[in-house]
Amino acid sequence: MFRKLRRCLFDILLAPEIFYGAHTRRSNLRRYVVKVVSLIILWLLLVAAVVYYEVREEINQHSSIGLHENKNPAAIGRIQASNIPRKIWQLYLTAPGRDSSESSFKIDTKNLADTVSWLAHNLDYEYKLVGNEKYEKIVDQHFKKDPNSRAIFNTLGNYGMKSDLFRYLILFEEGGVYSDIDTINLKPVDLWIPEKYRKDARIVIGIEFDRLDGGDWSEVHPDLQFCQWTIAAAPEHPLFKDMIKHSLSDLNKYAIDHNVAFPDMKASSSEVMKLTGPAAWTDAVFKQLQHYDHELTTLRNLSGLTEPKLIGDILILPIDGFAMGQNHSNSTHDGSIPEGALVQHEFRGSWKHESKKRYIA
Ligand SMILES: *[C@@H]1O[C@H](CO)[C@@H](O)[C@H](O)[C@H]1NC(C)=O
Ligand SMILES: *[C@@H]1O[C@H](CO)[C@@H](O)[C@H](O)[C@H]1NC(C)=O
Ligand SMILES: *[C@@H]1O[C@H](CO)[C@@H](O)[C@H](O)[C@H]1NC(C)=O
Repeated sequence: MFRKLRRCLFDILLAPEIFYGAHTRRSNLRRYVVKVVSLIILWLLLVAAVVYYEVREEINQHSSIGLHENKNPAAIGRIQASNIPRKIWQLYLTAPGRDSSESSFKIDTKNLADTVSWLAHNLDYEYKLVGNEKYEKIVDQHFKKDPNSRAIFNTLGNYGMKSDLFRYLILFEEGGVYSDIDTINLKPVDLWIPEKYRKDARIVIGIEFDRLDGGDWSEVHPDLQFCQWTIAAAPEHPLFKDMIKHSLSDLNKYAIDHNVAFPDMKASSSEVMKLTGPAAWTDAVFKQLQHYDHELTTLRNLSGLTEPKLIGDILILPIDGFAMGQNHSNSTHDGSIPEGALVQHEFRGSWKHESKKRYIA
């Protein structure tokens, strides 16, 4: 097709018979008309090709802008992967019934309303709602050679502590994201780590409380506390092993000091925070951070973060990352969802009322 057109074009340009010695005028005229029409078609094809390529270029530009605005990693399809496995863990332990009528398993679907946000924003992630069976399986697997620790995990009567310990264990064993069931996922996990840190970050941690220049806080760390309602991690990070080791040792000490067996341990909520919860977690995290950066001397060094900070392989998020909507710590609480917010915690804290509730997370 192209070659024919080209030959026509040459013929027209050269077209000697039009001007010199044609056989018959009519056949010359017909040939001339055919050639002119060919030339016009060729010209139109050329214009069409140019327009086609220009339009395609424009579409390409638009679609790449569109994808960035859309921020749906499934649609982008080729963002740089992080070290965080694409797994999401949530926990729903059920306490054994006190009598036979209570022992049948029942779960309130209302408690899982926020889980939809995790599923919808993270297509193709593995999602697991862990119950008692998987809990014991992971514990047995991890403590194969340590029956004492296994017994503590499995017989702890305090389900808030059980829930605390489980998150450290599952993130060590499998990695991914652990999040309490009273959290809303605001942004796809694929986008949690800024691109420049995606190669190096192996844990993502949020700040729960930052005193800044404000008043004292009644909890253990008056300056700053990390949250553990949501944590993202690559598997086998030593931080979790360290955290578990310290918690188990403190629990043993508590049991001895209070002369109480693990199934009967009824620690107050502030004791839970210190033994297995955010206060203990803050100690473990800060110790690891100091191991990476010897210049860190106080938690106040991390106060007032306005953008994510990578220390070693740990990414610390500013307050809005996991803790927007609080009326302290410079957390955004004007009803808007700030750009840097990845998770919203609803503070249902069901484990704090565990004497009244059978189902906790
Ligand atoms: C942490 O704060 C202390 C005391 O203000 C300061 O001497 C030190 O340089 C700070 N470290 C970092 C890494 O900012
Ligand atoms: C509070 O956060 C805003 C927005 O990130 C920042 O501009 C401001 O400096 C922060 N204030 C304090 C006291 O850290
Ligand atoms: C902050 O919020 C808590 C409950 O979320 C409330 O009890 C307290 O009064 C609030 N404080 C201020 C200063 O608004």
